[in-house]
Amino acid sequence: MPSSNALDPQSPLARAIYDLTIVSYIIFALIFVIVTGGIVYGILRFRGRAGELDPKQIAGNKKVELTWTIIPFLIVLLLFVLTIQAMNQGDPPPAPSADLVVTGHQFWWQADYPASGVTTANEIHIPSGKPLSVRLESADVLHEFWVPKLTRKESNVPGQHNHIWLQADKPGTYIGQCSEFCGTQHAWMRIVVVAEDPAQFEQWQQTQLRPAQAPTGGATAGGLELFRTSTCINCHAINGVPGANSRVAPDLTHVASRRQLGAGILENTPANMRSWLKSPQHVKPGALMPDFSFTDEQLDQLAGYLSTLQ
Ligand code: CUA
Repeated sequence: MPSSNALDPQSPLARAIYDLTIVSYIIFALIFVIVTGGIVYGILRFRGRAGELDPKQIAGNKKVELTWTIIPFLIVLLLFVLTIQAMNQGDPPPAPSADLVVTGHQFWWQADYPASGVTTANEIHIPSGKPLSVRLESADVLHEFWVPKLTRKESNVPGQHNHIWLQADKPGTYIGQCSEFCGTQHAWMRIVVVAEDPAQFEQWQQTQLRPAQAPTGGATAGGLELFRTSTCINCHAINGVPGANSRVAPDLTHVASRRQLGAGILENTPANMRSWLKSPQHVKPGALMPDFSFTDEQLDQLAGYLSTLQ
């Protein structure tokens, strides 16, 4: 399982934040050592001994007052300058048009690529080495998009457009998560970021743009029929299935090509797809997908059909 360790930056954007963190902690550690060292030294070296008079009082001493005002001021000034630099490196102004739009939903992520028209959910692909201008939106409540290894975090605010840059130095799989409490399943709002060679990324986009595979046999045809008649179609889109174009829930055109189900709660296997369809409320209580009480045969057909949607 790929990690989401913020202390392992994999892009210039994340590295700017990491470097600022490390420099800040070094400064804080030096301050801690000097201040506590001075206190301990003072306690040991200048402790009052029997028969000693009070030491000479130095209240209002200009030299001391200036020293302990100017030094902290310079430290804060240095941190301020370093922070401004990190903000400029980690958060440049947005591009005129977004490469990617990520919309938070309770409890999943929608991703749209305006230039190509690709729409997907909970798993985004990006070309490695290329910074993407990402617009963040929300369909319902506050969410927060955060892929710690790749970029800073930023809120998805209903009715507002926020912006981040997203980049990965090299191909790999990176995990992100919602980092603003958005309801019962906030913890299961993961996003998988797959960075790949630009050519591979282009191929992925072409595959995603294709309409869904048509059913190849009786059982999968039954699955498609169930999808159309069991109200799945009211929320989910499948490109190529007439009438299936709702954007309330994840687009299923290529659902079988994704690594995870339920925004990270299950690995995407045919067996897990079946468990999910059998009782989403058991797998992910509070998710907006209701239990449909499908029969075993219906579950086989529906899970079988969805598992063919590569
Ligand atoms: Cu979405 Cu927390």
